[in-house]
This record gives sequence, C-alpha cells and structure tokens, in this order.
Amino acid sequence: MSGIVGYVGKANAPEILVRGLRKLEPRSYDSAGMAITENGGITVVKTLGTIAALEKKARAQWAPDRARAAAAGIAHTRWATHGNPSEANAHPHLDASGKIALVHNGILENYRALRSFLESKGSRFVSETDTEVLAHLVGWFYTNDIFQAVSEALRRVIGAYGIAAVSALEPDHIVTAQCGSSVSIGIGVGGSIVASDTSVIAEHTQRIISLDDNEVAIVRVDDVEVRNLGGIPVSRTVPELDEVEEAVRKNGFAHFMLKEIHEQPESITDAIRGRIDFENATAVFSSMDAAPCKISELTRVVMLGCGTSRHAGLAGEYAFEELADIQTEVEQASEFRYRNPILDKHDFAIAISQSGETADTLAALREAKLKGAFVTSICNVVSSTLAREAGRGVYLRAGPEISVASTKAFTSQVIVLLLMALKLGRGRRLSRERGLELANAIASLPDIVRRTLPVNDVAKRIAQKIKDVEHIYFIGRGTMYPVALEGALKVKETSYIHAEGYQASEMRHGPIAMLAQGTPVIALACCDEAERDKMIINVEECRSRGAYIIGVINAGDTEAARHMDEFIEIPATHPLVAPIPAVIALQLLAYHLACLRNCEIDKPRSLSKSLTVE
Ligand code: AGP
Ligand code: GLU
Repeated sequence: MSGIVGYVGKANAPEILVRGLRKLEPRSYDSAGMAITENGGITVVKTLGTIAALEKKARAQWAPDRARAAAAGIAHTRWATHGNPSEANAHPHLDASGKIALVHNGILENYRALRSFLESKGSRFVSETDTEVLAHLVGWFYTNDIFQAVSEALRRVIGAYGIAAVSALEPDHIVTAQCGSSVSIGIGVGGSIVASDTSVIAEHTQRIISLDDNEVAIVRVDDVEVRNLGGIPVSRTVPELDEVEEAVRKNGFAHFMLKEIHEQPESITDAIRGRIDFENATAVFSSMDAAPCKISELTRVVMLGCGTSRHAGLAGEYAFEELADIQTEVEQASEFRYRNPILDKHDFAIAISQSGETADTLAALREAKLKGAFVTSICNVVSSTLAREAGRGVYLRAGPEISVASTKAFTSQVIVLLLMALKLGRGRRLSRERGLELANAIASLPDIVRRTLPVNDVAKRIAQKIKDVEHIYFIGRGTMYPVALEGALKVKETSYIHAEGYQASEMRHGPIAMLAQGTPVIALACCDEAERDKMIINVEECRSRGAYIIGVINAGDTEAARHMDEFIEIPATHPLVAPIPAVIALQLLAYHLACLRNCEIDKPRSLSKSLTVE
C-alpha cells in the first residue's frame, strides 16, 4: 500500500520526509522517492527498493546545511498499479517543464485518454504510470498558481487519488487533494506536514485536519486553506491545541459514553454534511463510482463487520433491499473467510468498522478483495488499516469515540449505509419521489436526535426499576430487530446483565420459556401502524407469561402505550431512519443501568476498543 508524506517549513525537509516514510514502512511498497524544491528548481531522488536506500541517497544529495535551506518537499512509497516497480515508475513524477513534482496514491482510470491528449500536445513521458500523466496535466494548466492548476487537472480526472504536489516557483506551499484515498494535514510550529496516515503527523502536531473527497488544500508553513474542486472555500478550522485537549476530556459529562451519546446531533450532522444531493434525490459518494461495472449491474451487497458494526449493517440491509432492490447479506466478519464465500465483481462488499483495525473485519475484507468483489469501507478512524486496504471508502466523521461501548459510531454507520442504499437505489430503479422521501428523512435526523435526548430522564427512572434483574429481553420487528440486538449488546457490555435481542415473533419459538414474573421485555414498538399492531400481539404473549413490558413507542401513540407497563416516547419518523432515535433511547437505558450498578462504564471488563487479534 502506497504512502504520501509532504513537508513545508523551517526544519530539515529531507529528514522529516524520510522519517514519515519510515512510519509507513509496514505497509507494502516496491519503490520510494522524494522531491525537494530548492533555488528555483526541484531535485528528485528515487530508489527501487527500501526506504533505507532512499535515505542513503538523500543524505548524499543533501548535506545538512543544504537540507535546511530546502523549502518544501514531497515523498512517496509506491505500490505499483500501472507499470512495473522500477526507478522510472517510482514517484515523485515531474511535469514537462520539470518545475512541478507530484506524488499519488490510487488509480486514475482515464489516464490513457489524457496521455494521448498530452502526447498530441508534445508531452514526452518517461514512465508507464497514470501518475506521470497527472503531473503533466497539472503542468499543462500551470500559470504560476499550483493550486489552480491542480484543481483544473483533477476536474478532468476519473478515479481514486490522494495527491501532494509542489512547484519550484512557489516553494512556500504544498497542494494536496483527495478523492477516495485519504490525506490529512498537520499544522505545527514552524512547519506543516501532509500525510496519507495521521500517525505520521501525530508525532509532530495534534492540530490535524483531514480532507474530504473532492477537496484541495493549500498547505503553508503555518496555515492551511481548503477549497472544493470548483475553487469554493470550505470552512475547516484547524483545532487549537487546547481544543484538541478539550476533545479528549469529558466535557462536563460523567463518562465518555454519556458524552458520546449526547454528541450525536453533531456527529450525525457531520456524517450527512455534503452527502445529500436533493436536486437528484441521491447521495454523493465518489468512492462508489469506482465500481468495475455499472451500479445497475451489481447483483449483491455483502456487508462485513463485528459487534455493533455488524448491527449497523443489519439496520442498513432493509434499505438496500427496499430502496436499491438488491439482494443483501450481512456477514459476521469473523466467520466469513472460514466458509467459501462466492463473490465476483458484481458483488459490492462493504466492510464496516469504527476503529478500522478489527482483525476479523480486515481478514474478511481481504477475502472479499481476493475473490474479486468491488470492496469499500465505512470507518471512523481516519487512515485506519481497513480504510487504507479497502483503497476507497467513506469516513463516519464521528470524532474520537473513547468509550469502548460504541454509540455515536453506530448511528453514523447506519446513516452512511442508508445514504449508500439511496445512491445505489437511484442508480437502479428507485423513483425520485421515494428517494427524496428518504433524503428528507435523513436530513431531519439531527433535529430528531436533539428531540430524543431528553428521554434521558425517563431512561434513568426505568433503569432504577430494573437494575437488579438477571435477564432482559429486547424484541423488535423489521428495522427494529437490529436495534433490539444492539440494545442487548449495550446492556451486556456495560452493566453485565444478561440480555438478548430477538425478532419479536421468534420469542414464541423458545426464548419465551425464559420469562418469569417481572422479567423485563423491552418492546420496540416505534414502527409503522401495521408493524406496531403485530408487535402488540407479541407484547401480550410476553405479558401473559409475567413479563414487565417496557415499550419504546412513537410520541403520542396512545394505543401502543396502553399495552406497556412503562414506556419511552421518541419522535416518530420514517421507518428506515427510526432505528436512530430508538437506539439512542436504549443507549441511555444501558448507560444508566451500568451507572446504577457501579460498573466501569467506559472500559468494561474483558473488552478492548480495538480488537487487532483474530
Ligand atoms: C461495541 O460496543 C463493541 N465494543 C464491539 O462490538 C465493536 O463494535 C466490535 O468489536 C467491532 O469494532 P469496530 O467497529 O471497531 O470494528
Ligand atoms: N497508480 C500509481 C502507480 O502505479 C500509484 C500507485 C500507488 O498507489 O502507489 O504508480
């Protein structure tokens, strides 16, 4: 897997670049190189082989005094996709004038056509790469403004990229951009650093921002300016150091879990930002445009995940089937490669993970990739291994999730999946009208969630009543079934009460035998009327065995309320987005149960935030 590092500033640029590449070294690469702007020109060193070899060459090229005079530099480890591993094909690549250098992660699909065009205008290429074509294209548009030229060039490119570019004539900044392959930027003291992996940046500064797809940034010694490909400024404030510290503090909440539950109006807003195209009633995910066949030719969606991330997949499954009219399966990532999953390029495999480091999910992704499926990832942690290995994907933008029990990542995962289903649906048979209905429902979620959070007090009161029980059952139908599973998992993880989630009708096939006088059954009856009526039948079956029924119902549904011993009212919404307010009610219930039982809420026994072993 390839990597990018860039540096502009007062320190020894070649040294910082080599140090950054070394951090990326565990990822596979076949060659490496760097370009430094100095004295109005650009010097490039490359090697087919290790970073140690590149370092040797760089030391020979730049004595310490000369290195310190260097203004800006970019470096790369290449994992060949177009052209053999060779020194000529290694990055950085120069434009025709030799004044612009560029490094690139990813694949440019229309490079052949661009190359022919440039050759017809006199360009001569020294490599077989798609990347060199982009370098020449930037040169073709260059009129003393590297930002402008990169934006012009990228507007003509189809494919996935993370890039960094420098111009000998503008040595005070680097330009970087991404589409399907991430780059982040760190603003430090006396210099700024760009990298495809935040771990490279973190050792220099915590003031880090990550780009979104189709954004281009001008990175200067002490600031950064982000615009979209059309040149419109995107407001992206670089966090101040104390803000960074603030983000990891509990911000007045007793536990990270409670803080993260309450952050959901904002995390959901961020998950949606810029991703709904109301005009066309669809969603915007350029990573999905990279499918090897048309969206309409995909025959199956396969979701891969563990724990809460798998539950998010189950909640999304309904939308894929209903809106995109496509067969959808949600797989336990840990079991996936121990079967013989049958996949081909018409299968769309989505690996879902908050951390992006879960070993089981990574192994499942690799299996899907190996079998030729079109893979993508949904991750929260930027530049995580999963995001990098998938080669493309969508970030949740939920911010750091510290509590081991996942809350805000789950709701963002569900929303991203709904948006993906919308996009897939619109590329297939979904009408504009139905698409718009879902788009509007998704857009209303931050407000719905704001109106849901006050259920905290009722959840606490109910938790008080049931805190000493041994078992709790969660039941739901349709999209509420994954919510039942997730509610049960939250309770198990945080309060160590035995809890199970079932499809409501499944209770009568066995689990109902477990119910005794007073056993709490949490009934998710916040569905549409027809489902709600069936749910009431299931509720009455449980009640007649002595269960203590706690309903999660739509606000004002007096009919449902009549059948419950206790109820939590949440705002009514579109059935496909209803899992969001419903799960928040359960997250709060689980939190208060754990609090009342004096459990170690943010770090439950035996669990870890990121499971990097299989
Ligand atoms: C969630 O509350 C759990 N801690 C756990 O199930 C988690 O969702 C699972 O381990 C997967 O983690 P990931 O999303 O980081 O891949
Ligand atoms: N497609 C480019 C090449 O083959 C970049 C590959 C990479 O991501 O390293 O040179």
